[in-house]
Amino acid sequence: MGISTRRDLIEAFINFFKSKKHKEIPSASLIPENDPTVLFTTAGMHPLVPFLQGEKHPLGRRLTSVQKCLRTGDIDEVGDSVHHTFFEMLGNWSLGDYWKKEAIEFSFEFLTKVLGFPKERLAISCFAGDGERGIPKDDESAEIWESLGVPRERIAFLGMRNNWWGPAGETGPCGPDTEMFYWVGEDEPPERFDPSDERWVEIWNDVFMEYERKKLDAIFIDEKLLFREGRLARDIWDVLEQFKTKKFLVVGSLEEFKKSAIDDFSHLAVEVVEFPKTSEELENLFDEKKLSPALALFVSFGNTNAKLADKFPEGLRKASATTAHELNEVLEKNVYFYAKAKQRNVDTGMGVERTLSVLDGSCDDYLTDSFLPLIREIEKLSGKSYEEKKREMRIIADHLRAAVFILGDERGVRPSNVQQGYVLRRLIRRAIRYAKLIGLEKGFATALAKVVIAHYPDYQELARNHKFIVEELELEEERFLRTLEKGLKKFNEVAQGEVISGKDAFLLFQSYGFPIEMTLELANERGVKVDLEAYNEEFRRHQELSRTASRGMFKSGLADESEKTRKLHTATHLLNEALRKVLGDENIKQKGSNITPERLRFDFNFPRKLTKEEIEKIEELVNEKIAQGLEVVREEMPLGQAMESGAQAEFGARYPEVVSVYTILDPSDPRGWFSKEICTGPHVKNTAEIGKFKIVKEESVAAGIRRIKAVVE
Ligand code: ALA
Repeated sequence: MGISTRRDLIEAFINFFKSKKHKEIPSASLIPENDPTVLFTTAGMHPLVPFLQGEKHPLGRRLTSVQKCLRTGDIDEVGDSVHHTFFEMLGNWSLGDYWKKEAIEFSFEFLTKVLGFPKERLAISCFAGDGERGIPKDDESAEIWESLGVPRERIAFLGMRNNWWGPAGETGPCGPDTEMFYWVGEDEPPERFDPSDERWVEIWNDVFMEYERKKLDAIFIDEKLLFREGRLARDIWDVLEQFKTKKFLVVGSLEEFKKSAIDDFSHLAVEVVEFPKTSEELENLFDEKKLSPALALFVSFGNTNAKLADKFPEGLRKASATTAHELNEVLEKNVYFYAKAKQRNVDTGMGVERTLSVLDGSCDDYLTDSFLPLIREIEKLSGKSYEEKKREMRIIADHLRAAVFILGDERGVRPSNVQQGYVLRRLIRRAIRYAKLIGLEKGFATALAKVVIAHYPDYQELARNHKFIVEELELEEERFLRTLEKGLKKFNEVAQGEVISGKDAFLLFQSYGFPIEMTLELANERGVKVDLEAYNEEFRRHQELSRTASRGMFKSGLADESEKTRKLHTATHLLNEALRKVLGDENIKQKGSNITPERLRFDFNFPRKLTKEEIEKIEELVNEKIAQGLEVVREEMPLGQAMESGAQAEFGARYPEVVSVYTILDPSDPRGWFSKEICTGPHVKNTAEIGKFKIVKEESVAAGIRRIKAVVE
């Protein structure tokens, strides 16, 4: 049969499915294009989601591919013979074409005829059904397997946890699956399949995508639920924020709004609508907002407004709650749900590394052709043998191979402290730590990267991005090696007791570049605990500080009170208001601000690039207000009153009951002031102190968010 390398297996698989009228599609990027809920492509089906949902694929309804995938769920498990982060997945798909019978027959034929696995060494699991969700047991698949000669005792029925797959992200196609296992034990396989016996190794998975996990688009909240004693009920809002649906609509008579000081909810992503009086008006509301009743939920406050819900169109979900706790329960039950999909698809997945290790009988993925060249190079560079240092070498090989694929991807990223960049950083830094343990010298990462690039010529992007991969690895290695030694010393100091405090764990992260997961791992090796909760708290506090320190929200000496920063603070307030005035958009809000003695940086929501004329007008307006010599006054007042007075505020920030408000008085403005913001300063006393204001840069930082950098001279 002659399958011993990854290429052999991939070719055998793809050719088999081509012979069954499938078209080959290339591997997509490791970084999903249209799914912000997932960092990496975790399965071959992920890039196919639109086609699984009914869009027509240009190559037809039968597809096959080998897809580069990355799963971060068990980074910590890497080190044994079967776990890795990056892997290649073989798959075949039916997009509304064949169904269970053909899919299972194809799998059976490939396993027994092409790979030559005797059917006596196979076992199968099928979906046991889920009463609560109303999803039936999959007897059909089991019968097909039996008809092919798999005995009943070798078929196990398991629940959602084992035999349900998907969606890849938050929502999307999913369904019950049937999984294939191969006996790798030395003895003859037992007659009865016991899924908990690890000598049964899973090699393939056929998913029958009949379902779609959906999320509500809109939640209608009774205004009575959102207010308590004339104030926004924070705990209710916190629950809503956890279940970010596309729209929150607050409905009711709006009396509560009138009573409360808050009249501007635009920064809360909430829409306020007076409850329609007739069913017709209500239908119009759904049309106007482009909402489907089937994807909306109305939550009334106890029974008080329940009768309103009677007017809602059919299919709308209704519930009631009076407390945040009840609301949480209601949303947990309703926000996500399974619906029958319009199109029935088959999605299968077979891991290349795993299958190779079963084929060659080693049962060690790291001894297959996918990893072996890397392991050999690590042995050569370290002068140690794989037998001696298995765990360390597996971690280094896995993490570096994954890092090379992330860096070399068509949509590659650099190491950073967020999202994909953070995963990349964790992988590289963990590899470096283990490399040190087995005596690998600086530069090992690039040496290994070259082996990966040479061993995977079929992913041409790696060769194309060779320079970038090597440079970024070198940089990250340099950065981390600079602090690693000192960081480990620090770790030893702070790990003397039983628990490492949140502050110390944060210090290791902030000053020594130890990803928290690394600190946890080191602590675990020592039998010491880490106060993770306190670390998270510290992390959040720090984020908040960096977000707000520039506005002087924390008086604890963090705000830089120099003359220059005072000027920049006040200039920031002028800029904030000038943006709304010049761009004519009241909904423009501050999304972030940062001030150094050199410049101010201001982020705000706006859908497009500013024109040159607009930038000039903004500068002019700010300079005009500086030239007018406007007085800046500070007052303390209750939060409600501050809101009512029209002061700008950043909603994400937790304001105290009493806040300080800075107002830039302006007799020429009908309101009597030009700008009003909740802020603790520091500010100049008069705008004339500021000097000349100049915008030096205007750019995009994220979808819908612009950034301005400006200086004062
Ligand atoms: N998408 C399925 C899996 O990843 C086939 O196992």
